Amino acid sequence: MNGRGPAVRTSGRAGGRTGAPARPSAPGARRRRAAALALTAGALWAVPRYLPPAVVSLRKRIFAEVNGDREVTVPGPRFGADAFARIYSDPAAGGRSEGAGLSDLFWYWLAPGPEVHQEHLENGPRYEEVARTTRAILAGPSRDVEERARRCAARVLDDLPREQVSWVRLRDLMMPVWAEFAYELVFDEPCPPHARRLIVANADDVITALKCTGLRHPRRRARLTRYLLRRLAAGDVPHALPASLSRRECAYYLQGTFFNTAVVQLSEAMAHLLLVLAQHPEVQDRLGGGDPEHDRDRAGGAGTGAGTEDGGAAERPYLDRVLEETFRLYPLFGIAHRIATDDIAVDEHTTVPRGTVLCFDYAAYEQSGFADPEVFDPDRWRGVAVKDTRHIPFGIAANRPCPAWRVAPLAMRGATRAVLDRFRLRSSVRHTRSLPHRAPCLLLPAGHRVSEPGVRARLSAMRVRDRTEDVWRSVAQLAFGAWMVHDARRLGLCRNHFARERGARPATGTAGTPGDPAGTGRGRCPVSGAG
Ligand code: HEM
Repeated sequence: MNGRGPAVRTSGRAGGRTGAPARPSAPGARRRRAAALALTAGALWAVPRYLPPAVVSLRKRIFAEVNGDREVTVPGPRFGADAFARIYSDPAAGGRSEGAGLSDLFWYWLAPGPEVHQEHLENGPRYEEVARTTRAILAGPSRDVEERARRCAARVLDDLPREQVSWVRLRDLMMPVWAEFAYELVFDEPCPPHARRLIVANADDVITALKCTGLRHPRRRARLTRYLLRRLAAGDVPHALPASLSRRECAYYLQGTFFNTAVVQLSEAMAHLLLVLAQHPEVQDRLGGGDPEHDRDRAGGAGTGAGTEDGGAAERPYLDRVLEETFRLYPLFGIAHRIATDDIAVDEHTTVPRGTVLCFDYAAYEQSGFADPEVFDPDRWRGVAVKDTRHIPFGIAANRPCPAWRVAPLAMRGATRAVLDRFRLRSSVRHTRSLPHRAPCLLLPAGHRVSEPGVRARLSAMRVRDRTEDVWRSVAQLAFGAWMVHDARRLGLCRNHFARERGARPATGTAGTPGDPAGTGRGRCPVSGAG
């Protein structure tokens, strides 16, 4: 073929209709073509490899820039990992929203009602009341939590075909599970399909905007608010809600904590865990299907180290160690931020001045505390007390840690068991902390023979599709991210809220103003115009 191609073309040119003479520089043209081919191949190899991580670090830098020169990242050039826990635990590292440019962006992403989201509330009586309510709603025996999650997962998974291989995105697969779970926590009854659709639409919109893989759609979220308002008016919520909140604020609180945060965090965490299993068949083998009796290293105990009283020093079931290791390699939080409400003396020579925006980099901190930190090794947790390590999946105990630190690992265990009861998992996609692809995966029905060559072919196709999608998605993320940073600054939801609280005139912006206190942007989507 090599010999025939050029020979045929050369004679064509010489004797063609135009009568153009054959080019004397055919070897030169061949070299140029080869160079162009090599360049294209190089670009095809390099772009998917380098562009997505470059975009992630650029996004990190953009977010740091939003806070200007009052921002300090820990660990970072000024303070190492050794100072991380010391600064994070300081009582003066207590500001949550006011005074950080980044807050406008987080309020924008979590609207409506970001001013009553627990994570945004400043310390004080209102925060205490809200936090108490969350703890009460999350309370309950561990066995019930695990069982509830297993039941909710079973309802969703039983809709999938049980005799053929299914191609799914794990985050999308898990979201209805946690929608049902959160609904049951709040309403203490099974979740009707209509409510599940509203909750999934809301949570999916939040996480899509947070990952900058799309823009936010305030009208979708407003539909859930209206539903919650109706249920609250009918007296359908069997929990005592914060007395200082109006009915609308209670709807925003439930929407923010349970139908955003809980659903989004559990879906992301499960997508990471199941993707890890899909890429480590030996771990699936060792877990031995969905029956806990087959969890061969099982030796009692419940929850992850973060959820145990001894910090996880006792031997724990293998699934718990897998969970711990997944949290360590893929911490859900990239950066958690605080605003210094007073000077923080780090040592006798260094003080972090009041007003500094402290960005705690979870991934860098976790990486700094382990040998071979990039290696997935659940057995590194054998007999290790989590509290003695740099592992903080649910935050720092001294500074408003996650209220679901006990419930989340239990619920994830229940859901994982439900998945392993029914399927074996395989995936060939790249696994990163930010998981923008929503974790594509093949589900192979347990107990059914599947054609291994067929599965391998599908995995190859999945790999090619993943690398291709990575490129355009990275570019889209940059564009969506830039737009949302701009739009969030323009709306200034947090800035205007505190300006109003102080009786000052709000800064410019169309939402987050007295006419639109929820900061919904009046249902306007800047690209599609849709809600
Ligand atoms: C595996 C799942 C989860 C992980 C890994 C996780 C992780 C975290 C972390 C690291 C923080 C502290 C961030 C900081 O210091 O700023 C946090 C805070 C929080 N989480 Fe979670 N979370 C999970 C699930 C949940 C669930 C199910 C809920 C539902 C109630 C929840 C509600 C909250 C709230 C309300 C806060 C703010 C706490 C406060 O400021 O008082 N999280 N979470």
